Amino acid sequence: MIQENLVFNPELPVPQHVAVIMDGNGRWAQAQGLKRTAGHREGLNALRRVAIAAAQMGIKVITAYAFSTENWRRPQEEISYLMSLPKLLNDDVLPELMANDVKITITGSLEGVNRTTQAYINEAIAKTKDNKGLILNIAFNYGSRAEIVKASQSIAQQVAEGQLAVGDIDEELFSRSLQTAFLNDLQDPDFLIRSSGEVRLSNYLLWQLAYSEMYFVDTMWPDFDQSVFESCIAVYQHRHRRFGDVS
Ligand code: FPP
Repeated sequence: MIQENLVFNPELPVPQHVAVIMDGNGRWAQAQGLKRTAGHREGLNALRRVAIAAAQMGIKVITAYAFSTENWRRPQEEISYLMSLPKLLNDDVLPELMANDVKITITGSLEGVNRTTQAYINEAIAKTKDNKGLILNIAFNYGSRAEIVKASQSIAQQVAEGQLAVGDIDEELFSRSLQTAFLNDLQDPDFLIRSSGEVRLSNYLLWQLAYSEMYFVDTMWPDFDQSVFESCIAVYQHRHRRFGDVS
């Protein structure tokens, strides 16, 4: 259910970068007497619907939380299913994404991910690398605290080797050391959407979300489609961003 009854206005600006926490797959499936994995399968379809809607709205980047560093704690059967989704992405979803000029990128680490899954992820990246439309950035095996620790280690290493002075470390340099740095000036999301009514960040983009507008919507992720996504963007269109200023 959409909490704020606002209507998307194609005349108003849309966020350039939208971060999405795709929550509620398991509950959606269980509510219908299905296995949790059926929720993840429909979750992938919802991601396709949202990516295409976003591409058509002129949004530049969607960063979608597909697998967190904490998700390794789930039952092995569910982990195996989540690891099989990149194959389904290639087989079932990529043709439509290609037709919409969507480019796939990854934020996170492929360390510890099995070789077959890595190969499917790399295949999706390679096939879409020349596309110029929406960037569908999939956060896979991603954890924000680990990302921040890694960035700090890399900066400390450069200081230890004399390539960098302590005084050179500023917010811009730190941002450029994060896993989202390849997005350049689009690396900080304008808007975060979390589905399923949960209100927390779950170790997602903690640095990058510092000034993002946030919206926590009750809709379960597998129920997301163009119309739900437009209602979320309408919420953003009615927000006033001040970045600490008063105007
Ligand atoms: C959280 O819901 C969702 C996930 C852990 C996985 C989300 C992944 C997708 C939607 C598809 C990913 C696509 C690719 C290409 C890898 P949950 O299972 O925690 O739901 P619950 O809170 O109801 O249990």
